[in-house]
Amino acid sequence: MEPNRGTRDPRAWFASDAPQLSLAGQWAFRFSERIGASLDFVAPTYDDTRWDRLPVPSHWQLHGYGAPAYTNVRYPFPVEPPHVPDENPTGDYRRTFAVPDEWAGLDAILRFGGVDSCLRAWLNGEEIGSAQGSRLPSEFDVGALLRPGAENVLAVRVHQWSAGSYLEDQDMWWLSGIFRDVALLARPTASLDDFFVHTGYDHVTGQGSLRIEASAPARLVVPELALDIATGDTARIDRVEPWSAEVPRLYHGTLATHGERVPVRIGFRTVVVENGLLKVNGSPILLRGVNRHEFDTDHGRTVSGELMRRDVTMMKAHNLNAVRTSHYPPHPHFLDLCDELGLYVIDECDLETHGFERVGWRGNPADDPRWEDALVDRMRRMVERDKNHPSIIMWSLGNESGSGRNLAAMAQWTRLRDPSRPLHYEGDQTCANVDVYSRMYADHAEVEAIGQGTEEPLSDPALDARRRTLPFILCEYGHAMGNGPGGFSEYQELFERYPRCQGGFVWEWIDHGLRQYTPEGRPFFAYGGDFGEPVHDGNFVADGLIFPDRTASPALLELKKVIEPVRIRADASTGTLLIGNRYDFRTLSHLAFNWTLETEGVPLAAGHLDVPTVRPGREVELPFPQLPSRSGESWLTVQAVLAADTDWAPAGHEVAWGQIPVSPGQPLPPPRRHASPVVDENGLRLGPGAFDPISGRLRALGSLEVEGPRLDVWRAPTDNDRGAPEDGGGLAAQWRDLGLHRMRHRVIEVLTENDAVVVHAREAPAGTDVGLRTTYTWTVADQMLVLSLVVMPEGTWPVPLPRLGLRLAVPARLGKIEWFGRGPGEAYPDTRQAARVGRFTSTVEDLQTPYVMPQENGNRTEVRWAALTDKHGHGLRINGLACFDFTARRWTSETLETAQHASDLRPSDRIWVNLDAAHHGIGSAACGPGVLPRYRLDARPTRFAVAFTEVDQ
Ligand code: GAL
Repeated sequence: MEPNRGTRDPRAWFASDAPQLSLAGQWAFRFSERIGASLDFVAPTYDDTRWDRLPVPSHWQLHGYGAPAYTNVRYPFPVEPPHVPDENPTGDYRRTFAVPDEWAGLDAILRFGGVDSCLRAWLNGEEIGSAQGSRLPSEFDVGALLRPGAENVLAVRVHQWSAGSYLEDQDMWWLSGIFRDVALLARPTASLDDFFVHTGYDHVTGQGSLRIEASAPARLVVPELALDIATGDTARIDRVEPWSAEVPRLYHGTLATHGERVPVRIGFRTVVVENGLLKVNGSPILLRGVNRHEFDTDHGRTVSGELMRRDVTMMKAHNLNAVRTSHYPPHPHFLDLCDELGLYVIDECDLETHGFERVGWRGNPADDPRWEDALVDRMRRMVERDKNHPSIIMWSLGNESGSGRNLAAMAQWTRLRDPSRPLHYEGDQTCANVDVYSRMYADHAEVEAIGQGTEEPLSDPALDARRRTLPFILCEYGHAMGNGPGGFSEYQELFERYPRCQGGFVWEWIDHGLRQYTPEGRPFFAYGGDFGEPVHDGNFVADGLIFPDRTASPALLELKKVIEPVRIRADASTGTLLIGNRYDFRTLSHLAFNWTLETEGVPLAAGHLDVPTVRPGREVELPFPQLPSRSGESWLTVQAVLAADTDWAPAGHEVAWGQIPVSPGQPLPPPRRHASPVVDENGLRLGPGAFDPISGRLRALGSLEVEGPRLDVWRAPTDNDRGAPEDGGGLAAQWRDLGLHRMRHRVIEVLTENDAVVVHAREAPAGTDVGLRTTYTWTVADQMLVLSLVVMPEGTWPVPLPRLGLRLAVPARLGKIEWFGRGPGEAYPDTRQAARVGRFTSTVEDLQTPYVMPQENGNRTEVRWAALTDKHGHGLRINGLACFDFTARRWTSETLETAQHASDLRPSDRIWVNLDAAHHGIGSAACGPGVLPRYRLDARPTRFAVAFTEVDQ
């Protein structure tokens, strides 16, 4: 349990003009499946020419040694702390390097940025020490051992498992090796070992304060502030611009000793919990946050600087203002980017002991005094490394580690070392050691109760009373696994209604799918079990707002809309536009406001709006722009876009939008029926429709082959339909149990009436008496073949329906899609905020959302009409008599359901189209609350009508 031997005291991670040498590159590598290979390799004379070569930094499992393994909560080894099995994959590393002559006589530090899970190192044959703490730096003094001008040999042994693994049970891939940079830092005489920048901002006077504490006397010069102070002095500067995530103002200075010059970026800001609220610079803030693991689909937790920047810019561009570094400190460069581009950070310690829950928390390291040093060491290494980042507004003790005295010791050490930042830890609901009340996946009702201060009491009245004074955050909510989550907007309403609810962090940023290839070379993203792991948790590792390749999933677009910092709406009673500012600090002067008028999705007029200054939290009223006359369904769209380029998005980037209906659609004229059914040796015909006389199903529309629409209720269950792993299959299992995936069809009669074909039928699952009575009435009106469907449930339906609508098939060549309705992206009843009314074009391929685990996806909602055409413009147009939902795929729902990876899906010879009256909501039941009652699709009498036309555009 002793975390380290021979390591230096933890300290700040900083750049400097002192010489340094990166040891990244190809290292000699020897892999053993078990512990116990000889230590012969540490000798400088050892011959490693026959060893393999492995890049550093990297994970060895991603280079063919051992295999990745994914577990959420369970340890993949027996729980007998601190022991680990003999089957302990071990990597021996060697590299040689030259040190410039100028280093002679200098002190030097060997720094490992991150080694999973432990290391033991030898330099030029001498053991320098050992360390645990995978996502934390370890440093060793090596000056005396270096041979400037000669060859130096560094040998490192890394084990996959160590006592430290008990503290690193985060829900992610187990991946080992030297996965962050290794560097050699020269320490000139009189250099700086460590420093701590203390700043504050007085929001009343506008004064900033600055004091530097350092390991050696030094001076800080900040030219922009005409400041030159010694360590220990406190400077007070009038009228500084404070740092916030909204305006991340940094002042650049240089901290210098005789031996070294260190660039320092200073952000003036104060974080407090005061009167029950978390405040930055005197104002309560609303956290629009996300949980971020470090992940690259090809390199695991070795993440390039470029990808870190991509994460931060994407977060900013999607209106996020905060990140929790779940569940370990990230590479420090990520924090530099948060300082620079503006994100509030909860920096979380590399600690999770969740697997002890499965053994009743017996032996939990969080409460066993023998582990105290190891836990406090982890906190110290994080706080010391990261203390100079203005973006960090809270320290988190870790994640899901139960409760216990060692957590208290971590908190106590941190409070003494850095009283300027509040503490967070969700795992101990008494909040005994922390400053904010934090929950994960609480449902809307519980959040509302907490907002009102009426939450369930704790058994200890003193702790309960204290917790009631704390601000509340959801450190995890909106589990973004697969399709969904539903319910973002209802959470946001609560955050905006109750001051105590200061927002939260969506789980999570990225799907951890590892890119792999099928034998034929088709790429796919692998999840738990794909590497043959005996113990694993499947695709629970793919629950991000972005796909493994860092493209946005619909959930990120939904979140962006829900948390937008400008609210644009209309006040129907006064006929005015309302523009609300939901930033915490800034006005809207960095935004430009544009409007567009569209009729049937076709732009008719556009203009610019002059918006006066709107203070944070306020709303202004504007007159409507002058709109030209129009006929047809028309919408006014107002967009708030960046007026100028920023570091994270160019001018013109849309930050927020609102849509206001300004003219309703023309109701369809009452159809003039003008065709009568014809029955002859060719079958049954009605206008352009040819029917099977026995089943009553449509076979063709004019020259188009159609496999006629039929009632259909199934959808390929989403991860949320399947519920949490402990839910026994969730709603999807109930659906299957009832047999909704294998409904039986019975035609009762096919009637030809004067001007209609009427089909009476019943759809029902086997083995039960519930069913859906259906009447399909076909008529012809104005060239269109109109189908009205009436559905009457029979019996008592024990579960909601997955969806309710029609399924039909059309020829594969009709792959071009155009529609007027909500889009451009997918939307379901509780995930539809980001979809705007417009006219959109796409292809069947592009309508699909490539969830890592294939499942229901790609629904377009509130569609007025849709057309599927071939490349000549010939095809099918569908008009809804009311709005309908629409999907088109090259496979059926059943095929979609059986696929395990996107690469399993192969186009069939038809396009399958679903036209739906309704969908059951999506919810967040994979981890969190299910579908809110208002989004439940209960079987009830339903009328639904669509009209089909053959088109030649
Ligand atoms: C939480 C945990 C996360 C993740 C999530 C589910 O309990 O803190 O690490 O496992 O659930 O995806």
